[in-house]
Amino acid sequence: MCGIVGCIGKINTKKYLIEGLKTLDYRGYDSAGIAYLNNNQVEICKTVGSVSLLEEKSPKEITSFIGIGHTRWATHGVPCDINSHPVQSMNKTITLVHNGVIENFMEIKKELMEKGYKFTSATDSEVIASLIEDTLKSGKSMLKTLQSVMKKLEGSFACSIIWEEDKKHLYLIKRSSPIMVGVGDGFNLVASDAVPIIEYTKKIIDLDDDQIAIISDKEVNLYDIHVRPVIIKYSDKEPSLLSRDLNGYPHFMLKEIEEIENVVRRLCLNFFNGEEFTFDPHLMKDLHAADNIIFIGCGTSYHASLVGARFFRKQEIDADVFIASEWAYYPQISGKNPFVILLSQSGETADLIHCMRIIKEKGIKTLVVTNTKGSTLERNADYSILLNAGLEVSVASTKAYSAQVAALALLTSALKDRKKVVVDLNEACKIISQIRVREKSRLQALANKLKDSEHLFFLGRGYDHDFCLEASLKLKEISYIHSEAIPGGELKHGPIALIAQDTPVIVFISDPNTASSMRNNIQEVKARGADVYVVATHSLSKEDDFIIIPDYPIYLSSIAIAPIAFYFAYYASLAKGYNVDKPRNLAKSVTVE
Ligand code: M6R
Repeated sequence: MCGIVGCIGKINTKKYLIEGLKTLDYRGYDSAGIAYLNNNQVEICKTVGSVSLLEEKSPKEITSFIGIGHTRWATHGVPCDINSHPVQSMNKTITLVHNGVIENFMEIKKELMEKGYKFTSATDSEVIASLIEDTLKSGKSMLKTLQSVMKKLEGSFACSIIWEEDKKHLYLIKRSSPIMVGVGDGFNLVASDAVPIIEYTKKIIDLDDDQIAIISDKEVNLYDIHVRPVIIKYSDKEPSLLSRDLNGYPHFMLKEIEEIENVVRRLCLNFFNGEEFTFDPHLMKDLHAADNIIFIGCGTSYHASLVGARFFRKQEIDADVFIASEWAYYPQISGKNPFVILLSQSGETADLIHCMRIIKEKGIKTLVVTNTKGSTLERNADYSILLNAGLEVSVASTKAYSAQVAALALLTSALKDRKKVVVDLNEACKIISQIRVREKSRLQALANKLKDSEHLFFLGRGYDHDFCLEASLKLKEISYIHSEAIPGGELKHGPIALIAQDTPVIVFISDPNTASSMRNNIQEVKARGADVYVVATHSLSKEDDFIIIPDYPIYLSSIAIAPIAFYFAYYASLAKGYNVDKPRNLAKSVTVE
């Protein structure tokens, strides 16, 4: 979603701000802006649209000691120049960029309006700027002002702030939205994500919630909400895992699909040393002691959670699965000794952060399975499993999904010391490679054929149905074709009414227990005119099936055959001429609730 950059000191300000915003663009945005000093005056340049447009619109060279930049994904107010960031306080003494949502901004706005403040934008961010300006009037230092402002603000925020009276410092405040500082030699950098910083320095400080940072070109000072100095700790970020290189691929999504095999193999090496599993023994102890595992996730991570819960149940451990934005408001906790597993590629999903707060209040232990080291969720969990899948740039999650499922397969197998999982995962990898070599062009042809369909249905049962949910999300997300995943047995309870002449239906069959029921379902939809494409494993296949793949351990459906759905969605989006990696209305990291 929104992205923040900032810099101070000896650095090419325009280059860092613009290039930095470009590296954050995968998160999704609709407008962009920068603020910098020109002859000691704060200048602002903003635009609706791309960072490249902003680059064209802004002066060729910017020689400035200090600068901030932002990509905005509209929440309060439509995308337009006025609502774009940086925003300023009424008297322009404060210029800031903000990520997050201020829940009580209307109340604060009203109070400020009663004092005579006027607002130009519809944003909650402008309210923060004027609140800082107003609080400074009482004669407080900036540090004390920010403390008092943070106490007033409800909701989430990461702000990078320039104060007209102190152009030698950048100020940061943070709660529930990520922001970090990169420490350079004669300069310091700010960003909401490590990607823009890592090219310049590996010394990165992740701010914790309710911290304030005061940054000059040579120093970074951190304070907690009580304005007590905080000892600085550097986070350990691996540059190769933050690479944004397309490596010759036309799109990140295609590159990321084709990385799945390596990602899964790497996970096996990370958590199995050839003789034994290497998960944190304390985590294993807590999992053994738990009588109910509560999975929470959103979107693709929710779909991976469904598979993870099946893995636990297979080991005779109760497991529930919830969508984060539902659980946050209707928390359900069963068992005498529950344990929560949160899945999040980004580790910054606001709905999950909300859940994490509730879980912590209840004193329940948590494991976060994430691709982002140092993310808010990772730092707040009792345990974390890092996917090490490398940066996932495409909004449509692919390799992170497969990695989540693989990590959970390893984890649950480790509980019973079931080493065969490593052999099984290797089998799944062989299938992935076979799909890449043999089926990719047929999937492209199918996508070209079905690209103009209004609806498309995925049918499956059990593990296959869990995967159908993901296949359907992927398709609708990037090709905008309406699609649904239906458990085979549910067809007759309603969805079959949607099947008409030539309605495309893609069916997955990999479980011998349900194969014959699935074949009946195929007859039912065919009888209504459906255009059916069956993907089946060899021993369950029929001659005219669309794709036949070698048998594999069925619990790994979501890994082995995932690329079929991923390629199909990718090629459908491509055929329709859409922006595959940045679908409309979506953001990579959903940092607002
Ligand atoms: O970063 P997270 O895994 O927490 O993100 C959750 C969802 O927003 C995400 O999986 C989303 O559904 C993807 N765009 C799906 O491709």
